[in-house]
Amino acid sequence: MKQKRDLLDIRDLNETEIYRIFEKAKLFKYERKKGIIHQDVLNKKCIGLLFRKPSSRTRVSFEVAIIELGGSPVFLDASKLQISRGETIQDTAKTLNLYLGGLVIRTYEQSEVETFAQYIDSPVINALTDFSHPCQILADFFTIWEKKKNLKDVVITYIGDANNVCNTLIFGADILGVRINVSCPAKYTVSKKIIESMKNPSLLKISEDPYAFISESDVIYTDTWVSMGDESEKQVREEIFRPYQVNEKLVKNAPPDFLFMHCLPAHRGQEVTDEIIDGKNSVVWQQAENRLHVQKAILYLLYNS
Ligand code: CP
Repeated sequence: MKQKRDLLDIRDLNETEIYRIFEKAKLFKYERKKGIIHQDVLNKKCIGLLFRKPSSRTRVSFEVAIIELGGSPVFLDASKLQISRGETIQDTAKTLNLYLGGLVIRTYEQSEVETFAQYIDSPVINALTDFSHPCQILADFFTIWEKKKNLKDVVITYIGDANNVCNTLIFGADILGVRINVSCPAKYTVSKKIIESMKNPSLLKISEDPYAFISESDVIYTDTWVSMGDESEKQVREEIFRPYQVNEKLVKNAPPDFLFMHCLPAHRGQEVTDEIIDGKNSVVWQQAENRLHVQKAILYLLYNS
């Protein structure tokens, strides 16, 4: 019997598979603009979208991707399921397995998506956990690849909180052989566990200085200072991260054609200013659009290989 495949962590993919996703996403993007869609990929499968956290991009892009590939999305607001009243993950997973042909999950603990994947016979996809955001980062590397062509020549600098987006950027860079810098306060730096699990740790440089890597950065990436689940630390975080705001002063010595990236939603006036996010270097809307094409390519890989 063919083994099912999940995407729980970007490290579930190798470099060849990631480039296969990029090529397929490029084709899906081109074909969608021509009005060509592929209803045979999911062939009437019902795919659940179980979300414990809010979402605009991930939810809508997955729903549209599933519909355009011939499946039916079934949105599951976790607060309305019996899971919110104490039904176990295992029992919920076994039940959903009876109805669905796949599950996309956004939750807190990485172990939760792993448990779902254990009890569900069809593909399970991580749509963000506190540890990882693989679909986002695949769309981000695809965006950089579209713009800069050769990823091996690119230097990415991530500025701000070393959160799930930062973790996944580091792992993606490690798989693809891309140099990556992280500028972040010591209290919120990259965990030792992340660094130790890299295959090529020499790709990663870390500094507390937000200006340290600007002049060598082809990509400057930031994200919220207060991720979903960190709200109790909001005040202290906003104080600590203030020097890490991506603004005109910070990027003054960046290469003129650097790309500004943000996975969104942005907190304008906090981690980024209007001038930068709306400026000529910003590719945030291409990133957001590419979520759709890349997720289609992920679904294609998981269901058709
Ligand atoms: N970037 C991202 O995951 O956006 P949403 O939270 O809106 O899904």
